Amino acid sequence: MTAQIIDGKARAAALRADIATHVARLSQDHGVTPGLAVVLVGEDPASQVYVRSKGRQTVEAGMESFEHKLPADTSEDALLALIDDLNKDPQVHGILVQLPLPDHLDSDLVINAIDPAKDVDGFHISNVGLLGTGQDAMVPCTPLGCLMLLRETLGDLSGMDAVVIGRSNIVGKPMAHLLLGDSCTVTIAHSRTRDLPARVAAADIVVAAVGRPQMVKGDWIKPGATVIDVGINRIDKPEGGTRLVGDVDFDSVAPVAGAITPVPGGVGPMTIACLLANTLTACCRIHG
Ligand code: GUN
Repeated sequence: MTAQIIDGKARAAALRADIATHVARLSQDHGVTPGLAVVLVGEDPASQVYVRSKGRQTVEAGMESFEHKLPADTSEDALLALIDDLNKDPQVHGILVQLPLPDHLDSDLVINAIDPAKDVDGFHISNVGLLGTGQDAMVPCTPLGCLMLLRETLGDLSGMDAVVIGRSNIVGKPMAHLLLGDSCTVTIAHSRTRDLPARVAAADIVVAAVGRPQMVKGDWIKPGATVIDVGINRIDKPEGGTRLVGDVDFDSVAPVAGAITPVPGGVGPMTIACLLANTLTACCRIHG
């Protein structure tokens, strides 16, 4: 068997086109343009790349993009004052503070200062609580993108056994709640989990989000399982230079799995598309 390759790039492009259509209608019929504010503190190169990409795709979808680039030594008070301004700004419907923040800033305090209605990352404790209790929440973008790919690939997920590898607040935990919400039987595995290969071998759905290059091997996988790879790791090539790989060893897993996301071109493009979807949702909710 050779796995179906789940084309996240194409799915994300289709979602962005759908969003752009809705945004155009919202502007025409109601004179409202969704606005997304992105706050970047410091000069982390990877974060700069993400923020640039978010800004470009926001504008391409017909939305307003507001970028706030602050120096690495920005005080907590100054950052909280900016968030307060953005919370009150009627042109801003979504607020994203790029993580990680410099060490002197308390991420929880900063994230929880965002108006939950504008929290398009779904990281505010109110949204975490709503998701955890199965209520209508802003859902974190990466797990939301994974869920969309899974539903499109498998249809109804009800009753399936799912293993989420990784317990981060950004991906692992919300992913587990989303799968539970779709009536999967969910295991959250992590660095202390005993006999991870045996747990993975029992799963119809595997979501890998640990940040360990090519950790999940083909002989762990139940034949026909669907494998979603959230990892983005840069490794050295034997012939020199580097390349991007996921948390899944694609070459050994693809011949066994039923479907698999590639890296790059799988989950990654879905994350920003879902951010735009959340911004549109926030705008529609704010304007009733
Ligand atoms: N850093 C890495 N991923 C994310 C994300 O999804 N949201 C934010 N705000 N920062 C991140």
